[in-house]
Amino acid sequence: MPKILNITGLEKTYSSGNKQLTVLQNISFDVEKGQTFSIVGPSGSGKTTLLGLCAGLDQPNSGSIELCGEDLKNLNEDERAQLRNKNVGFIFQNFQLLPTLTALENVSVPLELQGNKDAVKKSLDLLEKVGLGDRVHHYPSQLSGGEQQRVALARAFANAPSILFADEPTGNLDEETGEKVIQLLFELNKEAGTTLVIITHDLDLANRTQQILRLKGGRILTNERTAVL
Ligand SMILES: Nc1ncnc2c1ncn2[C@@H]1O[C@H](COP(=O)(O)OP(=O)(O)O)[C@@H](O)[C@H]1O
Ligand SMILES: [Mg+2]
Repeated sequence: MPKILNITGLEKTYSSGNKQLTVLQNISFDVEKGQTFSIVGPSGSGKTTLLGLCAGLDQPNSGSIELCGEDLKNLNEDERAQLRNKNVGFIFQNFQLLPTLTALENVSVPLELQGNKDAVKKSLDLLEKVGLGDRVHHYPSQLSGGEQQRVALARAFANAPSILFADEPTGNLDEETGEKVIQLLFELNKEAGTTLVIITHDLDLANRTQQILRLKGGRILTNERTAVL
């Protein structure tokens, strides 16, 4: 299968004052197009840092990242942002909706900014699909955590990304609500053929993806396929 993400020899060091902290070391792995992939590891093991590097939000000290066929080293910040706008979706633990926009606007405004003429219709369809057809004019503060995360799902899928990164998508949700969000995530993913990279410390969730990369202390412990087809 063709690769959508190709990581080789990644290293990331943070420095504060004269102290150096290496948080990722010797990281190499691939994600295939259309695959469901999870990254697991204890808190502080470097998962969020790794995701930021994979998506071109941050730069490594050494190693290379190829995303959607582009070596991120060869792109400037604007070009990386363009690549993200076109190809990448994000879901965060704390939803990250804009508080001054309604559910509908949170989904439609990014699409409008990209010049999509059907932004509102498309957003309404997606909000309907995640079960929020009757909440589209609500503001984030008027929605429950699970509802906010479903808005974030609609937003993430709106521009039909080829790869979607979800960082602890159920971290702030109770078990039942989290399960609903995950089911929707897998459903939308299947329908759209999106590649899904989920960061989680929920092993049950990781076991529902096709491949699991385990991190510990900034290094890869294992990288294994699961029985999921
Ligand atoms: N901007 C930063 N500056 C300095 N250290 C950081 C920064 N971001 C993360 N770290 C450190 O890097 C390590 C990995 O953090 P993180 O990637 O957030 O781990 P995880 O998502 O697995 O919990 C932690 O020790 C954290 O304190
Ligand atoms: Mg994290």
